[in-house]
Amino acid sequence: MKFFIDTADMDEIREAQEMGILDGVTTNPSLMSKEEGEFEDIVREICGIVDGPVSAEVVSTDFEGMMKEARANAAIHEQVVVKIPIIREGLKAVKACSDEGIKINVTLCFSANQALLAAKAGAAYISPFLGRLDDIAHDGMELIKTIRIIYDNYGFKTEVLAASLRSPKQVMECAVAGADVATIPPDVLKKLLDHPLTDIGLERFLNDWNAWTSKKNGAAVVV
Ligand code: G3P
Repeated sequence: MKFFIDTADMDEIREAQEMGILDGVTTNPSLMSKEEGEFEDIVREICGIVDGPVSAEVVSTDFEGMMKEARANAAIHEQVVVKIPIIREGLKAVKACSDEGIKINVTLCFSANQALLAAKAGAAYISPFLGRLDDIAHDGMELIKTIRIIYDNYGFKTEVLAASLRSPKQVMECAVAGADVATIPPDVLKKLLDHPLTDIGLERFLNDWNAWTSKKNGAAVVV
């Protein structure tokens, strides 16, 4: 499973990149709105840090507007994947962009039928929002599993990009469900590494090692 980070914050992206396991970045208008600077500059800077796909979302809701933005976003950098919401006009834009060779990440997916339509329109990625479904007492993970089955049934190449993740447990369950990508918030990414038994175990190993070497050094002095 590929790991994308779900942020437009340069420090967070750099930190994740330094972990050596980062495959890409996803942004959205809400994440962008937290940053200083121009949209194009932020996207370009992210592409300079990470060697992988960087999702940059359109904000138009009509076909023409989406197409204009999609072409402009794709022109920022070759790593850019244009994010388009799964609405009626969006679906048309996904098909037109895919025909033009612009890679699309279809966003705001909350149903398997939406994912099926996105794949038929040629999307490179589908982003089911797992956490937001859980927020309204639906089962986000079930959606990931269902999309996986549908895509495998018909050999769709569209990658399942599990989005709106909130916990390490969800990341693990996405991997079990066969998601191609998980886009992970920075705090959750850090938590994936942590385990109290690792810390306790390491402390014990180092204490034992130090006690052993001190004993040997002490013995050497006596001799
Ligand atoms: O980038 C899309 C998605 O990951 C948003 O997550 O936490 O705002 O539901 P969230």
